[in-house]
Amino acid sequence: MYIPKHFSVSDENIIHEFIQQNSFGQLISVDQEVPVASHLAFMFLPEENKLLAHMARINSQWQQIDNQKVLVCLNGPHDYISPSWYDTPGVPTWDYQTVHIYGEARCTDDPETLKKLVDLINAQKDNFSDFVANDPKGKKLPEFLSKLCDAFSSEHEKIEKKHQDITTSHDHIRGIIGLQQSYAGVRGVAEKVHLPDLVNDAAKLFGASFDRHNIQFTLTYGEELPKIITEKNKLLQVFVNLLKNARDATKEGPHQEGKIEVVFSQLDNKSVQVNITDNGIGIEEENLTKIFNYGFTTKPTGHGFGLHGSANLATELGGKLTVSSPGLGLGATFSIVLSGK
Ligand SMILES: Nc1ncnc2c1ncn2[C@@H]1O[C@H](COP(=O)(O)OP(=O)(O)OP(=O)(O)O)[C@@H](O)[C@H]1O
Ligand SMILES: [Mg+2]
Repeated sequence: MYIPKHFSVSDENIIHEFIQQNSFGQLISVDQEVPVASHLAFMFLPEENKLLAHMARINSQWQQIDNQKVLVCLNGPHDYISPSWYDTPGVPTWDYQTVHIYGEARCTDDPETLKKLVDLINAQKDNFSDFVANDPKGKKLPEFLSKLCDAFSSEHEKIEKKHQDITTSHDHIRGIIGLQQSYAGVRGVAEKVHLPDLVNDAAKLFGASFDRHNIQFTLTYGEELPKIITEKNKLLQVFVNLLKNARDATKEGPHQEGKIEVVFSQLDNKSVQVNITDNGIGIEEENLTKIFNYGFTTKPTGHGFGLHGSANLATELGGKLTVSSPGLGLGATFSIVLSGK
């Protein structure tokens, strides 16, 4: 701004008073070489040499101005002055008062800071410029900012909740990694396995997936169920594949609440049959044999490896994997019979 020397004011007290009295103005910044301005009510803190203002979140100007040099223009009274007003011949002029304030912008949505702003405005609202004290809209400003504070607090709570969820998921992932590591070191070694524990571990490897997809997951077995001597990490892979397929099938199936039921029954004193039944999309009769073929899939992102590999693993472990389904939309049951060696 060009200021003729004789109109310039350098007395800080006068400038401060002017800012207090004329606190509604423009915040000007540059966004990709284009000047942008917002019209805001400013709160002046002389001790801190700061201007505070609130900008609507939807206003994108705040997204660019953090740490940027900005200009605030506050205007005072202004009017047309006719040449006849002067004693000596003169030209018509438009007289005005204004202050230009340059500074660095800092954005905050910290509710504490906003609360401070609200308290300050509330405490000083009588001297807070004509706009805030007398203008009907200005009078609503403190109440508006109080509401804004509440809105920010609730937003903060939501963020806090998201943070909690992320922490829980992180713990879950750590648990899964721990579980995977516990299965990593025992390749090729047969050991006594309580099958329901193994199926539970397979389900845990899904993380919170069953809950998230609203799937009821149950295990049914008798106390006397014998342990089976088997290679547990191979069998774990089979159960992971079957549970993953069952989950996918319930997601595609006709029921709002998916159900996966795993029933363990003792066939004789060394053999156990495990039936994994879901209430999902079911299988057409003509596909009942094809589904074990390498590469057979009906899923857009499927590979058709899961069942083929699982059937082979079951055979390697001396068992057999079979399937039955009453038809499309009616769920499916995968059975595996395992014998203790
Ligand atoms: N529980 C089930 N209910 C209905 N259809 C099933 C079920 N399990 C498997 N299928 C069918 O068998 C096909 C083959 O399953 P498979 O596990 O071999 O491969 P996939 O799940 O499609 O892909 P991926 O190789 O990633 O596991 C599936 O695409 C699906 O059509
Ligand atoms: Mg699969």
